[in-house]
Amino acid sequence: MAILLLAAAVAVLLGIVIALSFRLGDRKQVASVPPAAPVAEHVLPHGSQIDAMRRGIPIDEEATPLPMARVLNTDLKRERGYPMQPPTIPHSIDNYQVTVNTNRCMLCHARANAADFQAPPVSVTHYMDRDDQFLATISPRRYFCNQCHVVQTDAQPLVANGFRDIDTVLAAEQAAAGGDR
Ligand code: HEC
Ligand code: HEC
Repeated sequence: MAILLLAAAVAVLLGIVIALSFRLGDRKQVASVPPAAPVAEHVLPHGSQIDAMRRGIPIDEEATPLPMARVLNTDLKRERGYPMQPPTIPHSIDNYQVTVNTNRCMLCHARANAADFQAPPVSVTHYMDRDDQFLATISPRRYFCNQCHVVQTDAQPLVANGFRDIDTVLAAEQAAAGGDR
């Protein structure tokens, strides 16, 4: 018991000493931290995600935060990466409440209102329950729109992404096979 207590006390002391030395180290380095360069320059290939997320700034130095990204509000529908991708939201959704009492999204995206607002109505899947039965109103499992649909911002990617959609893959295969398929 006494040995355990002693070991615990030593561990706590060690922790304090280490924490203190880190804080001192931090303070000494503040002046030498270079300002973070624009993100795009730091986009690194696959395999260096952690580095890229830190924009190449060493782990023991503090990065200057980037300016807040702005939500893109172009009203232009975006291409989907694959057929069942929930489309991204092409407009800003500031102050659109989705709560137990009200669903702002359905003001425009419900079938009955869509024409008035020139909005695409939610597709039939949004009225289906988990047994594929069609309901008269939006299905509870599609009620919280932002679970699946998100806005996009003008933030620069921090990690390189090599995603190719199926049409690109097929086109490449076809070209390789001499284009006779
Ligand atoms: C004031 C009406 C209005 C409200 C409220 C609204 N939308 Fe929209 N939405 C539109 C219109 C109109 C479009 C068609 C593109 C455009 O003009 O922005 C659209 C487009 C979309 C699309 C793109 C569909 C596609 O096929 O690419 C998604 C997804 C979407 N909205 C989701 C939402 C979500 C989620 C909410 C709630 C957080 C919401 N909308 C609230 C009017 C609205
Ligand atoms: C569980 C995920 C999920 C939720 C929650 C969800 N959606 Fe979707 N949504 C999808 C998927 C997947 C698609 C594309 C395939 C499809 O239509 O089912 C889609 C398609 C859409 C489309 C395009 C329809 C079309 O015909 O092009 C709109 C608009 C939309 N959703 C709006 C909404 C709104 C508004 C809500 C909230 C009331 C909502 N969605 C909730 C997954 C979801």
